[in-house]
Amino acid sequence: MLLSILTSVLAAQTTAERPQKPIVLSSSGGFQIGGRTIHSPFNPNLTLSCDHGYMEYFLPSRPRKTSLVMWHSSSTQVFQNRWDGGPGYKDLFLRRNYPVYLWDGPRVGRANWACEPTLYIPTYMDTANFAAWNFGPRYKQWWPDVQFPTDSEDAWQQATSARYVEYDTKANVELHARAAAAAADSGRVGEDIVYLTNSAAGLRAQLTATLSNTTHIKGIVAYESIGYVFPDNINVTAGKGGFGPYVVPVEQFRKLARLPAIQFVWGDHRAENMSSVVESRVVARLINAYGGNARVVKLGDVGLKGSTHIPFADLDNGEVAGLLDDFLGENGLDGYVDGGDDEGDDDGKDDGRVLLKG
Ligand SMILES: *[C@@H]1O[C@H](CO)[C@@H](O)[C@H](O)[C@H]1NC(C)=O
Ligand SMILES: *[C@@H]1O[C@H](CO)[C@@H](O)[C@H](O)[C@H]1NC(C)=O
Ligand SMILES: *[C@@H]1O[C@H](CO)[C@@H](O)[C@H](O)[C@H]1NC(C)=O
Ligand SMILES: *[C@@H]1O[C@H](CO)[C@@H](O)[C@H](O)[C@H]1NC(C)=O
Repeated sequence: MLLSILTSVLAAQTTAERPQKPIVLSSSGGFQIGGRTIHSPFNPNLTLSCDHGYMEYFLPSRPRKTSLVMWHSSSTQVFQNRWDGGPGYKDLFLRRNYPVYLWDGPRVGRANWACEPTLYIPTYMDTANFAAWNFGPRYKQWWPDVQFPTDSEDAWQQATSARYVEYDTKANVELHARAAAAAADSGRVGEDIVYLTNSAAGLRAQLTATLSNTTHIKGIVAYESIGYVFPDNINVTAGKGGFGPYVVPVEQFRKLARLPAIQFVWGDHRAENMSSVVESRVVARLINAYGGNARVVKLGDVGLKGSTHIPFADLDNGEVAGLLDDFLGENGLDGYVDGGDDEGDDDGKDDGRVLLKG
């Protein structure tokens, strides 16, 4: 007990003493996009503007060109903080001068003004969340190496209660993709967009890329994507639910191959024969067969152990962010709007270090 208090005090001090570059923004804000206006069947003069998505933005004072759109399937919170409350992807990449966008698709989070009735039935999800987010094989049986502060009941409470209603139906996937494509094509998210997605948002982002009519979308980094988009010229039967397989005309599928780069990322505790891992390999091969650049990355293969379903919130998210730096750099997506480079600028790559483990 005393030791653990001492350790946290020491860790807190180390964090406090670490000189942190302030995050300097030129502006922040948000907007609604991609919805529609419906008329009352009883009085067409009465309207409801609904089914839009909500985009919150944070623009660094000296921005890089690529906008990072952080697309959750549980809640924006997973991008805002690490499991232990430390910096999440939002701050890590603002310190690196990337414009950061937090997206709530239609009907979820801060875009919950729906055009149709929605239904929320409380179900006892905590147990299911634990396993679905791969904190361990069964409720409260943590993987021994898990990148989560397992001794903190508060961290677990924060994680499980941050969740939004998801509406994982096929119609909802399409609604989200249409709103996101409208946002991408509008230019209001910049002209170079990389989606960072988690779980079911990966399917929505793939579909978005097939619906967009501009070249604004430059990449997708899908962390543990559940659900994939397939072309209609192979023998894949579309699923009926919200997790795919999703089948689109091959001409539309080819748009995925026109993106400069796509990565499907998996944690080390995912078996190679898990159906979504298998699908990610098939889809990456198909995208590449059409001239694209898609890769499956197993974090265990590059030395990261104990990843959860949401690796960018893990205690080692600094390391996970480092891999994203490599992805952005290798694909020419890390340039500045002013054409300059990182000179004299602490890019903050050090901020995500694990201090609280042990
Ligand atoms: C709708 O508005 C129009 C124009 O103001 C008006 O003439 C009409 O009576 C209104 N309809 C109803 C059902 O209120
Ligand atoms: C792209 O173009 C098609 C065909 O004109 C159109 O149906 C679709 O709505 C457009 N997509 C977006 C996001 O505007
Ligand atoms: C397509 O899949 C079905 C069901 O698995 C199978 O019966 C059929 O032979 C397949 N067709 C082709 C052309 O591979
Ligand atoms: C995956 O492989 C493991 C070990 O070979 C096996 O026990 C398990 O049944 C397989 N699961 C699936 C979904 O095929």
